[in-house]
Amino acid sequence: MLVIETIQEMRDFVKREKARGKTVGFVPTMGYLHQGHISLVRKAQEECGAVVVSIFVNPLQFGPKEDFGQYPKDFGRDSAMLGDCAVDALFHPTGKEMYPGHHRTIVDVTGITGCLCGTSRPGHFQGVATVVTKFFNIVQPDRAYFGQKDAQQVLVIRKMVRDLDMPLKIVTVPTAREPDGLAMSSRNVYLTPLQRENAPVLYKSLLVAAKAVSNGERDVNKLVGMVRQIINSVEGVVIDYVEIRSLPDLEEKDGLEIPSLMALAVKFGKTRLIDNIVLGEKQCF
Ligand code: PAJ
Repeated sequence: MLVIETIQEMRDFVKREKARGKTVGFVPTMGYLHQGHISLVRKAQEECGAVVVSIFVNPLQFGPKEDFGQYPKDFGRDSAMLGDCAVDALFHPTGKEMYPGHHRTIVDVTGITGCLCGTSRPGHFQGVATVVTKFFNIVQPDRAYFGQKDAQQVLVIRKMVRDLDMPLKIVTVPTAREPDGLAMSSRNVYLTPLQRENAPVLYKSLLVAAKAVSNGERDVNKLVGMVRQIINSVEGVVIDYVEIRSLPDLEEKDGLEIPSLMALAVKFGKTRLIDNIVLGEKQCF
């Protein structure tokens, strides 16, 4: 596996692979990798001749009170994991390489960023859309892979790609979970043992709502209430939001549309966790 730190080297690598007739798959990450990230890599390897993974903790997508400075890092472990997967190239630029100063251009996907995580993390999706656009311009992949765990993120990226005619396909990969149902996340390491024990309540509550829908429940408020009640039964948990939104535009509807996205964000102490489920038969979008 080639470890690449500069934009120029990254461009040269992709040019070479494309000249050899390879399709290029791209998996952007912020590192501290887990099996969720690896499931994206595996999917990319199934579908593409060459796979590039990026590791870059993007300052632009963190709010001033968020965990940019504390975001967990272990580059040695990450590169060993990707090497074991036989990834072709790992792009690991410095902050200076990506933002050499005087950065003045922001990609702003409007509408679908004004709800769910966009409300509690103002500017977050501008940061994501901007860095992902930069990566797409640098790597020029044929396909890019995103996890359904960050459902709003993948919907924002899809919208951006469609709106700006970016020449690549966005592939969504289902959420990888721990055996007890907790969605894998780099932030799970922040949980205390008790919080970790309680955290599976998030997915459990979403499953209860999905079951109610398959049994015929169509009342959005009742479904949201059900989930809130289950989560609130755990001590020390603060709900940021529990919402049901349309797919793919994340609009609020009076009656339940099938399929819809049920998404939540919850704080366990200082640690903010998100999860979601598709209400409807088809689980991936
Ligand atoms: P990060 O949180 O590192 O996630 C990288 C990718 O892995 C995202 O597409 C995310 O949805 C996916 N992922 C994370 N946990 C997952 C899980 N349990 N199952 C399936 N996929 C999972 O998301 C980001 O980084 C950044 O915002 C980024 C897109 C890299 C832009 O900076």
